[in-house]
Amino acid sequence: MANYDVIVVGSGVIGLSIAWQVGLTGRRVVIVDPHPGRGSSYAAAGMLAPVNEAAWGDEPLIELNVRSAAGWPSFARALETASDLPVGLRETGALLVAGDGSDHAQLEELFKFQQHLGLDSSWCTASTCRTLEPLLAPGVRGGILAPSDHQVDNRRVLAALGVAARRSGVQFLHASVLACLTSDGRISGVVMNDGELYGDLTIIAAGYASGAIAGLPDPPLAVRPVKGQILRLRTRDGRALLERTVRGLIGGQHVYIVPRADGGVVVGATSEEVGEDTSVTATACYELLRNAIHLLPAVGEIELVETLAALRPGSPDNAPLVGAASVAGLAYATGHYRNGVLLAPVTAEAIVALVEQGEIPDWASPFAPGRFANASTATSDPL
Ligand code: GLY
Repeated sequence: MANYDVIVVGSGVIGLSIAWQVGLTGRRVVIVDPHPGRGSSYAAAGMLAPVNEAAWGDEPLIELNVRSAAGWPSFARALETASDLPVGLRETGALLVAGDGSDHAQLEELFKFQQHLGLDSSWCTASTCRTLEPLLAPGVRGGILAPSDHQVDNRRVLAALGVAARRSGVQFLHASVLACLTSDGRISGVVMNDGELYGDLTIIAAGYASGAIAGLPDPPLAVRPVKGQILRLRTRDGRALLERTVRGLIGGQHVYIVPRADGGVVVGATSEEVGEDTSVTATACYELLRNAIHLLPAVGEIELVETLAALRPGSPDNAPLVGAASVAGLAYATGHYRNGVLLAPVTAEAIVALVEQGEIPDWASPFAPGRFANASTATSDPL
């Protein structure tokens, strides 16, 4: 048994960012996870892409994504300083191209939507796309350049966050959290597979598995697994195939190719509503590679080094749940769906505000967990 100010359940990019930033406030923080840094944050591609991943109906989320993308350079600098480790932030922008006439028409509509929202993008003809990325297939029809859609190396980020959090005094426990403890009408800690922890505030940041923790209050946590399969390849000589991230809409299917500085590329990703299944399937690998090669034929010549499936934490409106739960002593930071890496800076900032001032900032209020309940149930004082 141990007492903490803050217990963070889950050590993906969200839990680690929160633990690091709350640790910097001088509070006693513990982070609990049976497999630290091995969930969807590890599988991710690390894109910081609020513009070319913008989707109709997601306007509040897009605003949050843009805010967090703008905060990434300073977050990355602070993280590199705190950990003495590089995080691979590459501010090279991203290009989204169309494979056929119908894809082209869809991207024109997306471009209009981006312009309507005032997002940073420009339309490129087919020849401009190939000037920007000479290895693109000759059949590419044109597309959208998003100069401020950048990337980080998510695995380097996880490693750096682990070091930074430890250096800020955070304790790490390799354990499974089974349930929350309740005492005097508030959450007072957690039950693990090998003991109990007590804390003034418990923050659930366990991704898609957050809702499986027993003892959470009503309403049930609206988070579900959304499977993503993703591939990693590399050139043998470290030669770069691309200058920037290239995404394709190919016969109506999305694919992205994210180039790393060492000649590696990440090709992703499927989006499948199949429950807690993390098998890698032949069809997914085939379709990802087929679309990637259609976009960038050189992908067919390089080495396939990893296939992986992980579960994104999906929410009913694709946006995260960040803030106080309906019972004192409990908060959520989960449901980040496709945007966990991107949203780490603003999520940590919102939770630090909750810890220090008792409420999340106004800009985060559209993402309060209580939005899925019939009536507002969030407490104003989480501590
Ligand atoms: N944000 C990229 C993905 O979820 O696949």
